[in-house]
Amino acid sequence: MYHNLFETVKIQKQSANHFVAQAMEGNDSEAGGSPSERTINRYRELARGHWGVAVVEAVSITERSLARVNGLILNEKNLDPFKRLVEAFKTENPQGILLFQLTHSGEQSGSFSDRTTVTPNTEGCRYLSSGELEQVKDGFIKAALLAESAGADGIDFKMCHGYLGGEILRPRNTRPDKWGGSFENRTRLLREAVTEIKNRLKRDFILGSRLSLYEGIRGGCGTSGADEIVEDISEMLDVIRMMDALGMDYVNVSAGIPALTGAITRPTEPSKYLALHHLRYTRTVKQMLQQENRRLRVIGSAYSAHKDKAPQIMAEMIVKGYADFCGFGRQTFADPLTPRKLAAGDMEKINWCILCSGCTKLMASQLNDGCVVYNEYYKAVLKQLNNR
Ligand SMILES: Cc1cc2nc3c(=O)[nH]c(=O)nc-3n(C[C@H](O)[C@H](O)[C@H](O)COP(=O)(O)O)c2cc1C
Ligand code: SF4
Repeated sequence: MYHNLFETVKIQKQSANHFVAQAMEGNDSEAGGSPSERTINRYRELARGHWGVAVVEAVSITERSLARVNGLILNEKNLDPFKRLVEAFKTENPQGILLFQLTHSGEQSGSFSDRTTVTPNTEGCRYLSSGELEQVKDGFIKAALLAESAGADGIDFKMCHGYLGGEILRPRNTRPDKWGGSFENRTRLLREAVTEIKNRLKRDFILGSRLSLYEGIRGGCGTSGADEIVEDISEMLDVIRMMDALGMDYVNVSAGIPALTGAITRPTEPSKYLALHHLRYTRTVKQMLQQENRRLRVIGSAYSAHKDKAPQIMAEMIVKGYADFCGFGRQTFADPLTPRKLAAGDMEKINWCILCSGCTKLMASQLNDGCVVYNEYYKAVLKQLNNR
C-alpha cells in the first residue's frame, strides 16, 4: 500500500528509501563517551528495521560541554568503538545510510559540565571568547574527519534545538566580534567549517545540517531581529540557500528548543497539532529549493506525532513532492522495526508511539533512555525512577 515510501531517492551518490531515523539520544555511552554495547545494539536494531537513513544521536565534539552524563563523544580515543557501531549497522543493512550528528551543547550543557554561551550576558553560562569559538570550529572539523575514519556515510551538523550551532545563528547573537551581529558572522561557523571539511575529506561523504526553522523565543532562529518574537523564517531560508551554495547535501528541518519550547520540537498528545507546522516548514523549504533549481535534499521532522496516520501523511508528502525524506524520532524508540514491518504489510504489528513523554522523562533525569511503553528494560528504569 505504501510502496512509494520504499522507492529510493538519491542523496549525494547514495540512494535510500524515504524513512529517516532521526537522532535520538539514548544516554548510554561508556564513561568517556564511547558507544557501549547497548548503544551499538540500538543502531543494529535500526539497521534491521530498514530505515533509509539513520542518524546517530548527538555526538559531542568536545569532552567539556555535554548535555548528558552518558552522552557520546567523538575523539581519537573512542574511534574504535565508533567503528564497531558502524560495522554492526552495515552488517545488518549494507545499503542503509548512517550519519553522525555532531554537536557542541553550549547553553544546553548540564550543570555537571562546562555550560557556555555565545551570547553576551546570558545568566548561568560562561561566555565563550572569540578564540574559543575558533577552537569549536576546529572541533567540528576534526570530528567530521574522525566520522569519516570511523566509516560513517556522512555527518549532520547540529545547528538546531538551542545547542551551540543554533545559538550562534540567532538574530539575538549580537556579540561584537566576527561570530556575531551580521548574517555573515552568525553563519561563519557553519560556512568555514563545511568549506574546510570538504577540502580535507578523502572520499564521498554526505554533509547536512539540522535547523530549527522557528525556535519560538525572542530573537531566536526564525525571527527577523534580536527583539522579535513573531515567526519570520526568511533568514532561515537564506541559511538553507547558503548550505546549498556550499555544496551540502541535505537540510533536516526541525523547530523549537526541547528545553524551552519542547512542544514545538516534539509535540505530545495535547500539543499534537503542532506537528502540522512541521509539514508546512518542510513544504516551504522544498518548494523554495525547487523554484530556485537547487539540489539540497529535504528531511522533515516530528512524524511520530501522527501515530498510525504517519505512513499516510508521509506518503502524501512524498507523492506531492513536499519532502524527500520523513524523519521519525520517538517512533524509532517505540518500534525500531517500523519501516520493515510496513514493507511486509504488517501494519497491525507496529508498536506506535503514544506520545507519553516517558523517554523524555528518562533523558531529563540523566538515565539511559528509550521507550518505557514497549521495552522492558526502560520500563524498569522508569519504575526505579518513580520509586526514588
Ligand atoms: C529522548 C529524545 C532524545 C532526542 N535526541 C535528539 C538528538 O540527539 N538530536 C536531535 O537532533 N534531536 C533529538 N531529539 C528530537 C527528535 O529527533 C525529534 O526531532 C523529535 O522527537 C520530534 O520527532 P518525533 O515526533 O518523530 O518524535 C530527541 C527527542 C527525544 C524525545
Ligand atoms: S516512551 Fe512514550 S513517547 Fe517515548 S517512544 Fe515510548 S511511547 Fe513514545
